[in-house]
Amino acid sequence: SRHLLSVDSLTRESVDHLMRVAARMEPIAQRRQVTRVLEGAVLGNLFFEASTRTRVSFHAAFCRLGGSVCDTTGFTFSSMAKGESLYDTSRVMSGYCDAIVMRHPDQGSVAEFAAATHVPVINGGDGPGEHPSQALLDFYTIDKEFTRLGKQLAGAHVLLTGDLKYGRTVHSLIKLLSLYDPMRITLVAPPGLEMPDYLIELVASRGHRVEERTSLADDYADVDVVYTTRIQKERFTAEMSEGFSLSRDFTVDRAFMDQRCGRDTIVMHPLPRDSRPDANDLDVDLNGDPRLAIFRQTDNGIPVRMAIFATLLQVEELIEKDLRPVRW
Ligand code: CP
Repeated sequence: SRHLLSVDSLTRESVDHLMRVAARMEPIAQRRQVTRVLEGAVLGNLFFEASTRTRVSFHAAFCRLGGSVCDTTGFTFSSMAKGESLYDTSRVMSGYCDAIVMRHPDQGSVAEFAAATHVPVINGGDGPGEHPSQALLDFYTIDKEFTRLGKQLAGAHVLLTGDLKYGRTVHSLIKLLSLYDPMRITLVAPPGLEMPDYLIELVASRGHRVEERTSLADDYADVDVVYTTRIQKERFTAEMSEGFSLSRDFTVDRAFMDQRCGRDTIVMHPLPRDSRPDANDLDVDLNGDPRLAIFRQTDNGIPVRMAIFATLLQVEELIEKDLRPVRW
């Protein structure tokens, strides 16, 4: 596909290819070498919902390939605030830009935008729908961490916990994991925030062992990856918001890791983690613990997003020929 809208458009072969291209991007992402293969190209970075990682890392990734970026942040800074449609915005932006990354609060909106343009569009998160580039960087992280630990993906045990209903990162990640050899996936969500049934059925139909549990107060000693997510209160209905509070029983913290998990279990989170009192998100008491992979995960966003651009804009074969040493 010329777009990246959903993990549905990826195959195991295309993911493996992106992982190999991302590995080749590491010297540039780590500021050891520079390239200008996208010199003259312009990215439209359209974020109608808040973002730190996705917006800035896509921006940085495009710049590191030599391109330039136009940003719009929030509805206020776009003429959609004056009632302009997605269709018109898409037609206009494709006259200005060579690729577009878009985040929007409505599920399906990025696909609607992409249908009206001939330039590659990347879904940077469409409401509770999908976040495919996050799943790719998560998968890249798991692969790197497993290589470091001498582990195999086939037969691995992955625990997904937190808001599995509205968490678009876990929707994309579970689809992506399902493309690989059978593994064990355990799902733990607070009541009312469970993984949608269609995703559980999809993963089970591909031969994976999927189990739903109701609590983290259990034995997770053989879990290889704990992937926890923020509760997406901004997506709750008014009825759900009333009186909702997340119990500490769903918090991944040092006590959980020390008492329930193995010594080389890694902890991932797409971030942001909610640091407000009573949010009970991933606990800061794991900061500095080598099992906490969250900032290795954010760093991996750059080479993976560079690989997405290089592949969609078909410059991947030119990169090695264009590499130069860093001069700063
Ligand atoms: N993981 C992620 O999508 O983070 P941002 O919302 O900061 O982009």
